[in-house]
Amino acid sequence: MTRTRVRFGCEQCGAEASKWVGRCAECGEWGSVVQVNGDLLDAATASVLLPDAVARPVPLANVDVMQAASASTGIAEFDRVLGGGFVPGSVTLLGGEPGVGKSTLLLQTLLAMTARGDTALLVAAEESPQQVRLRAERLGPLNDRLLIVSETSVPYILAHAAEIRPDLLVVDSIQTVHDPDAPGVPGSVTQVRDSAQALTRFAKEHGVAVVLVGHVTKEGSIAGPRVLEHLVDTVLQFEGERHFALRMLRALKHRFGRTDELGLFEMCTDGLQEVKDASAMLLTDRQAGASGSAVVPVIEGSRPLLIEVQALVASTNAPMPRRQAQSFDGGRLAMLAAVLQRRCGLSLAQMDVYTSVVGGVKVSETGADLAVVLAVASSALERAMPPGTVVLGEVGLGGELRSVPQAARRLQEAARIGFVQAIVPESTPAVPGIELIRVRDVSEAIRVALQQPAKSAETPF
Ligand code: TYD
Ligand code: MG
Repeated sequence: MTRTRVRFGCEQCGAEASKWVGRCAECGEWGSVVQVNGDLLDAATASVLLPDAVARPVPLANVDVMQAASASTGIAEFDRVLGGGFVPGSVTLLGGEPGVGKSTLLLQTLLAMTARGDTALLVAAEESPQQVRLRAERLGPLNDRLLIVSETSVPYILAHAAEIRPDLLVVDSIQTVHDPDAPGVPGSVTQVRDSAQALTRFAKEHGVAVVLVGHVTKEGSIAGPRVLEHLVDTVLQFEGERHFALRMLRALKHRFGRTDELGLFEMCTDGLQEVKDASAMLLTDRQAGASGSAVVPVIEGSRPLLIEVQALVASTNAPMPRRQAQSFDGGRLAMLAAVLQRRCGLSLAQMDVYTSVVGGVKVSETGADLAVVLAVASSALERAMPPGTVVLGEVGLGGELRSVPQAARRLQEAARIGFVQAIVPESTPAVPGIELIRVRDVSEAIRVALQQPAKSAETPF
């Protein structure tokens, strides 16, 4: 292989040039001729030029792993989702519907990180610095290491960031910044992608953790966050029902850790508070003795969580009765309603069935099947579950009950909250502190749960 020392070359085709020209004489590409300081591979052997700044392959064993150490966000629930905190040089996309609390969460994070000694730059492309300051004053003490700039031009944002070299750079939001070199208006797919690409490059080159805020509509379709998902290292989703204070933070993609952790917050007048005892919070307003309600311990991430499933069964003359599930899979509800009808003789043919999960928690696991079935049956039969009772189990098409993973941890959580008995599949092993009523199928569960007199009037639930 011949190596030649030249000063200019085309990035596109690898052709050499003796001086800088606007257009490559070889391939005709405009603006592709650059100065090359180091060696240049012979264009005939490899058509790509390697300027000095380009990283060279190294043995994997020589890669410095110190870089991957993460910096705590200063908010335990946030750290839980990230598996420690922000990794320097990483890019995180925080998505969520407008008004869910993305800016608030990040402002609190910025305040916590800078209070600890980190430097941070907040690029407020949607709100004025005055608005941000007013909000920040409600959230915590201010300090000089938290810098803010109201800027929408990506090159200027990068220039500010290069000068300040913050530990954390937050861009709120990616839909409102624009790159003058890219076509389209701010928020368009090309603008969002090009801006994010420029910010990603900056993050990698300077080892700065970058957080991009992205608005997602209910349909999740707006130009923006979805097109960025493959570009960034971590995609977080902040969600919650508008009318509830509970907010949930999940990782949909995370290059540095697991994605099944759930962070729980409550939106209060002084910002987001971490929810330490989510089970107790979710059951606060529960009406013991009401029909159409069942409590189930689910597993979210690494922790058990007690949730209340509610159902309402109402007669209808419509030819196609409704099966409507909120925070729960609608297809699964239709299947469970069919099981009730065929296996338990509960006539739902002329009935609308609505179910919801209190607090807006999204339940995706089948361990909540029995709770849905019993809540629906409870509403249809107008009988209440005995007090102090949780239910757990997956329902099969034959109406049989199947065990669910981590049953012991779930039942321990139920016992901790004050539940005294649990209706569970037959194979469930005993758990101290809670009495198990083992049942084989849905019919037996209904018999036990909805006809038995209340167990004890003293139990809190
Ligand atoms: P915000 O963080 O602006 O949402 P996003 O950036 O996702 O659009 O949060 C807006 C909502 O949060 C707004 O409806 C007001 C409410 N909020 C509180 O309830 N308490 C607070 O302390 C703050 C700062 C906001
Ligand atoms: Mg905002």
